[in-house]
Amino acid sequence: MDKLSRKEAARVSNDPTSDNPRSHGSEGSMTEQVRLRPGVTAVRIGVGAGRPTPRQKPNGGANRLLPEDRPVHQWYRFVLSFPPHLVRDYVERFEIGPTHRVLDPFCGTGTTLVECKKLGIPSVGVEAHPMAHFASQVKADWSPDPDGLLAHATKVAGAALARLSREGIHDDLFRPNGSVNLKALRRLPPESARLLLADSMSPLPLHKTLVLLDCLERRRDDRYHRHELLALAKAVVFSISNLHFGPEVGVAPPKTDAMVVHTWLSEVHSMAADLRAVRRLQAAEVKVHNADSRRIAEVLEPQSIDAVITSPPYPNEKDYTRTTRLESVLLGFIKDRAGLRALKAGLVRSNTRNVYKVDDDDRWIADHPEIHRIAHAIEARRKCLGKTSGFERLYAKVTKLYFGGMARHLAELRQVLRPGAWLAYVVGDQASYLRVMIRTGRLLADIGRSLGYEVVGIDLFRTRLATATREQLREEVVLLRWPG
Ligand SMILES: C[S@@+](CC[C@H](N)C(=O)[O-])C[C@H]1O[C@@H](n2cnc3c(N)ncnc32)[C@H](O)[C@@H]1O
Repeated sequence: MDKLSRKEAARVSNDPTSDNPRSHGSEGSMTEQVRLRPGVTAVRIGVGAGRPTPRQKPNGGANRLLPEDRPVHQWYRFVLSFPPHLVRDYVERFEIGPTHRVLDPFCGTGTTLVECKKLGIPSVGVEAHPMAHFASQVKADWSPDPDGLLAHATKVAGAALARLSREGIHDDLFRPNGSVNLKALRRLPPESARLLLADSMSPLPLHKTLVLLDCLERRRDDRYHRHELLALAKAVVFSISNLHFGPEVGVAPPKTDAMVVHTWLSEVHSMAADLRAVRRLQAAEVKVHNADSRRIAEVLEPQSIDAVITSPPYPNEKDYTRTTRLESVLLGFIKDRAGLRALKAGLVRSNTRNVYKVDDDDRWIADHPEIHRIAHAIEARRKCLGKTSGFERLYAKVTKLYFGGMARHLAELRQVLRPGAWLAYVVGDQASYLRVMIRTGRLLADIGRSLGYEVVGIDLFRTRLATATREQLREEVVLLRWPG
């Protein structure tokens, strides 16, 4: 695909609604900080040099979803997940085209995959969380006929509204529901309800959502079902529930009522408009695996990947199973504690809520003195501060497990890369473990080098202020090359 058509791909825009994203989310001697212009620096390391990512800003809006990027990306995404323009920048820089294949081994809600599809570049994603895997799969599927999708969703909405109306319940903010008999409302099974953050959703909106889900199942049409469910996930999380993201997930004062059917239908309308807009693109093939990227060679062909563009988890206490808990439970991806635990076991250990006795990824970084120094510093600070909670005791361990897990991933990845493959890993420095600085990008580059990758450089994507330390933390793009 030539540059003109790429730009056109990026420009398809039809929906002026605001973006509704969700989150994820520095010293050393071998590097040189290069000041490029006020507020913009790049770090040169090893051979070659990292460049600042185009459009980067020292703080703030660098990872906002640009209005022209909203089609499809906006169907459901993590707050602050990396932006499509970053993917475009690296696709261009790596000179990736339709004859290549891009991999995102931590594809989350599919930003890399959707952007590659828009650009006509084949891609493959790997994601261990079933809800994020589902979102990526649906966002990569542009096959539903937009009119058919709308017609079907309108029928389902009619059925749900009629059912609610027979129960004396309105879905109309101009006709508020008076007192409702809470005991008569539908609820989640207790083992599922127990998994939710308390008061994630008020009883009446939950009842309406469960009625809608039931109507979707009874009138199920497989051509549209998954898209309709993803639209519901977005509507529930950002409009119907009591959740808020700042960027961590929290619970706001409860909404006793909310429009459910109409909000969902409006999301489906927006989806149908996007499907119409992207239909004219020469879209490329996308495949998404629900798998663990530490065992990536089990799902990908040897030497099948030309470039990796990804943002893996960071060691920052962010729990992806918590930020997505409500929709994961409502759509049936997690049913009980055992299911939640099994899911967590498949994730890189980036927070103390998914560390288990049997974990041993730290053996992959047994010879890395800097990671051990950091882990000792965290443990020494914990003792010095007299911190004794279970979580605090795990900070040092999770740091080693995190880098060990990433090392394991990078080691296994070598089998699936073509010689000369380019890699871009977007990661952030962290100081959340008792304020001990973890320079994630530097350490990842070091691990890559020890595994035989060429370290091309580290670009500064943006900086953000750490509230605890008032320091600017760097969010960087680690650039590697696999020599083969
Ligand atoms: C920072 S998010 C990626 C966000 C993504 N760029 C997007 O567009 O939404 C990191 C993702 O890695 C996933 N993940 C964590 N450990 C994993 C593993 N071992 N294998 C595959 N995916 C994993 C998490 O579930 C999460 O969705």
